[in-house]
Amino acid sequence: MKTPIKFILSFALLLLAAADIAAQELITNVYGRDVQSLNGKWDAIVDLYDQGRKNKIYLNRRPEGKTDFYEYSFDNGLRLDVPSDWNCQMPELKYYEGTVWYARRFDAPEQTGRRQFLYFGAVSYRCRVYLNGEEIGAHEGGFTPFEIEVTGRLRPEGNFLAVEVNNTRTTDAIPAMAFDWWNYGGITRDVMLVSVPDAFIRDYFIRLGKDSDDRIDADVQLAGAAAGTAVRIEIPELNVDRTVTAGATGTASASFRVRRLQRWSPADPKLYRVIVSTDRDRVEESIGFRNIRTEGEEIVLNGSPVFLKSISFHEEIPQRMGRAHSEADAVMLLSEAKALGCNMIRLAHYPQNEHIVRLAEKMGFLLWEEIPIWQGIDFANDPTREKAGRMIREMVTRDKNRCALTFWGVANETQPSGPRNAFLRHLIACCREIDDTRLIVAAFDLVRFDRQRQLFVMDDPFIGELDVVAINKYMGWYHPWPLTPDKAVWDVARGKPLIISEFGGEALYGQHGPADVASSWSEEYQEALYRDNLRMFENIPNLRGVSPWILFDFRSPFRFHPANQEGWNRKGLVSDQGYRKKAWYLMKAYYDKIKRR
Ligand code: GCU
Repeated sequence: MKTPIKFILSFALLLLAAADIAAQELITNVYGRDVQSLNGKWDAIVDLYDQGRKNKIYLNRRPEGKTDFYEYSFDNGLRLDVPSDWNCQMPELKYYEGTVWYARRFDAPEQTGRRQFLYFGAVSYRCRVYLNGEEIGAHEGGFTPFEIEVTGRLRPEGNFLAVEVNNTRTTDAIPAMAFDWWNYGGITRDVMLVSVPDAFIRDYFIRLGKDSDDRIDADVQLAGAAAGTAVRIEIPELNVDRTVTAGATGTASASFRVRRLQRWSPADPKLYRVIVSTDRDRVEESIGFRNIRTEGEEIVLNGSPVFLKSISFHEEIPQRMGRAHSEADAVMLLSEAKALGCNMIRLAHYPQNEHIVRLAEKMGFLLWEEIPIWQGIDFANDPTREKAGRMIREMVTRDKNRCALTFWGVANETQPSGPRNAFLRHLIACCREIDDTRLIVAAFDLVRFDRQRQLFVMDDPFIGELDVVAINKYMGWYHPWPLTPDKAVWDVARGKPLIISEFGGEALYGQHGPADVASSWSEEYQEALYRDNLRMFENIPNLRGVSPWILFDFRSPFRFHPANQEGWNRKGLVSDQGYRKKAWYLMKAYYDKIKRR
């Protein structure tokens, strides 16, 4: 699919200008602010040949004189739900890759002494934003939020907001040209008008000290406030009520000891009410406090070794054949993970919406979050590396107060090379710039069977730069067994904790057949494959977690088989209609047997 190079080039230039601003302007805990939702039905125009910007349709002009006419109108035409992808909303858009214009009107009563920002939870994949006929910003990246300040640009009534959304795949994008999930396009997450005082609390990071079980560190960033402004931090249940003074750059920091802290864990997902306030602003949210670190080959949570009973899912509701976006969607996905007996979720392969992250924390799931560095990334391309750095900073900035997040993932299945190493080192540095309290992990598919040594081994020195090593390995699916599972011994990444971040195979729910024939696509084959892999995992001495691929069947243009796949990847433990396959019960029994927290 060739995208008019003009569009991409002009877009890239605009992004360089706007994107950095967007990334640094992220307001922390936007849901805890004074917000006006802009969700609902928006007017839309499908702009397959990218004519809209040239014809300035964002002006939304209407004919006045007798000779006026415009070959477009946002009124009385197509309407699309926001948030939602466009693919699931009408059959003609199921495979659509290109530009769709969204537009709506909204009122914004005059507010003195306050600042207003337009917040987008995510727009897939790139967009330009126009307000009342003016271009006000742009963003690239389908899975992280951005904000654009609109103070002084709003009218009390009838503001016209237009968003030009494009989901065409390009070689310099993240993800790039081909990936094993659906290329959903659209305004896929919440849109809000955020109102804050003109001197407000823009950001804060409040967490348990990395190597302390009773010291809380708090960093607060004000915007528009004078140096010397008093910043109050309260955690009533811990009798914390501290006031510190902001410096010249509006930053205020405090560290304080607490007594009888109930540390957050999957078994006890304790959250505390935290209030940050100044004379002009006040923000509150529930925050948990926990320690996570590695000790040799152990992953240690709150001082005790933990085994990760994990699962992955895409941000997709299979029954709706669309992106997940609401709290109700989050309940559906996470309830199934809880039923399976999991204590962790690898949110594949991109930052998922905040409803999922916040609910997972409340329900007691450790989380691994990543940006879609997924095969075929142009590691030698500097703008791509900067783009990835911005995306991962947006992810870490958004979720750094979520104690459930314990792993930042920097890559999925990359091949060793100098450019790859430099690229990933940049991503690790971007994470650590904002947050040095979490573990850095990456998933590799480089484990091979060494016939001479009769061992499974891996050669990628980059694993030395990670806290935890994760392996995707499809024994019995993409790789036939070279020996029986009980004899499959691994010698991989010793000295570090190892997680199996993906394993599994496909089965069409309700299809039964021989347990030793892969092409049966049967539940029996998938169940036997799981049994064999779980047996092999007993021979991985530094194994500290498993995460089957994947909880639900999911949509993918990779999957052509007319009877068994029909555009679905069938590795789900649960079918696209919500029915559990035989392997689900095997996995459940395995997790129930694991006694470690
Ligand atoms: C890869 C990849 C997944 C993909 C899976 C599969 O390991 O990480 O995104 O869906 O294999 O082939 O099903």
